Amino acid sequence: MFLGLDIGTGGTRAVLVDINGKLIASASAEHAPFRSPHPGWAEQDPEDWWRAAQQAIREVLAVSGAKITAVGLTGQMHGAVMLDAEGNVLRPSLIWCDTRTDEECEWLHRTIGRERLIELTANPALPNFTLTKLLWVRKHQPEIFARIAHVLCPKDYVRYRLTGTYAMDVQEASGTLLLDVAHRRWSKEVAEAAGIPEAWLPQLFESPEVCAKISDSAAAATGLTAGTPVVAGAGDQGAGAVGMGILEPGSVSATIGTSGVVFAATAAPTRDPLGRLHTFCHAVPGRWHVMGVTQAAGLSLRWLRDTIAPGTSYDSLTAEAATAPVGSDGLLWTPYLLGERTPHLDSHARAAFVGLTANHTRGHLVRAVLEGVAYSLKDTFTLFAELGIPVKGVRLGGGGARGPLWREIQAAVYGYKSDILVAEEGAAFGAALLAGVGAKGWPDLDAACRAAIKVAQQIDPPPAAVQRYAEGYKGYRKVYPALKGIHG
Ligand code: XUL
Repeated sequence: MFLGLDIGTGGTRAVLVDINGKLIASASAEHAPFRSPHPGWAEQDPEDWWRAAQQAIREVLAVSGAKITAVGLTGQMHGAVMLDAEGNVLRPSLIWCDTRTDEECEWLHRTIGRERLIELTANPALPNFTLTKLLWVRKHQPEIFARIAHVLCPKDYVRYRLTGTYAMDVQEASGTLLLDVAHRRWSKEVAEAAGIPEAWLPQLFESPEVCAKISDSAAAATGLTAGTPVVAGAGDQGAGAVGMGILEPGSVSATIGTSGVVFAATAAPTRDPLGRLHTFCHAVPGRWHVMGVTQAAGLSLRWLRDTIAPGTSYDSLTAEAATAPVGSDGLLWTPYLLGERTPHLDSHARAAFVGLTANHTRGHLVRAVLEGVAYSLKDTFTLFAELGIPVKGVRLGGGGARGPLWREIQAAVYGYKSDILVAEEGAAFGAALLAGVGAKGWPDLDAACRAAIKVAQQIDPPPAAVQRYAEGYKGYRKVYPALKGIHG
């Protein structure tokens, strides 16, 4: 039995997966919501992740008495956890959705050069990335910066508490902006230019590699057996892709959770010279991936529900949306509630409904949100086409793949046959598969995914809807440039 642990934003989830790739049990524990004392700030306490991890592990072990052969970790990416020489947390973590670091991004682009940075790390500086958060602390809290001895990402901090080992996998490290993504090693040049001592950075591993063992004290705290191997794991996007079988060039997933991600596996690091896509090492050794991120995907629907229909279930809202026609009678939604990453890289972008008339109903608003989020993810497919990244088929995942309407809208907007998986269990499931490969339960990730992942249904979008949405997308693409500048 393999344990996968996902240190998410809202909570930590533990799953047990057996050697047939079957989910045997799962348990979750919530985190305290992130604190946002100023717009754009987002902080969480690493100690709270560790509390939730212990609780989720203890609970999942209570369901099944089986022995755990190996543990795999995953979690929210990019957050900066700063530790002193004794491993004590120095301040709350600035997490992935904290976007206070525009100035630090500009400084990095001035100091290293935007193009050079993309050459070195495969990515431009974005406020989400870890390095920019360290630079903010250097400027605003120099007394804390002076005491940093170790830097980790969220799941790697939980690994440290489980094992006493400082380690990170190359997929996660790709999102720090300190990795030479093409060579899968820390970038000395970027660390030096940014003034980050390399000694702060943990040892790197490939995702399925065993890198640590459960310590005696963590065994007592969690119920795991001391000495149980822990694999490096991957950030939630890398592990989530493994959990959906997105391993080979040509295989692509579109996942709608709070954020939305279109993810493609690639055989080599495919850089976007304009930096609109993230180019990261894959959790599959020797492979890479690209992804585009919509900041507020599922969040758009939650925001709409909480604002105009509090307490209404998503099912009844989408039933209302189904009564509106394809294209929502001309109503468009651009989902930039949290600024936007792909393709605009603009933390000042703002969301909009465009094209309202007196005939529009609540169902139209909901449908326009479902369509607008899908158009936003389609922007990543457009970039894939521009950069020659192959798409052989699409697998839909996350909350956006659970109901039939949003699935059908997505398939028709993307214009590809789209697969729904039998049991899509997210990043924790992928982390368990990585643990299974590390423990030699499967020879490699391809074998693990063959055992664990089955397609339940294929959606073949009707050509008429594909055509209508191709027209709608043309209108959608005009909204951002037309509104840009109104809000600075
Ligand atoms: C990926 C990203 C999010 C976070 C939170 O780049 O920012 O997926 O990992 O889940």
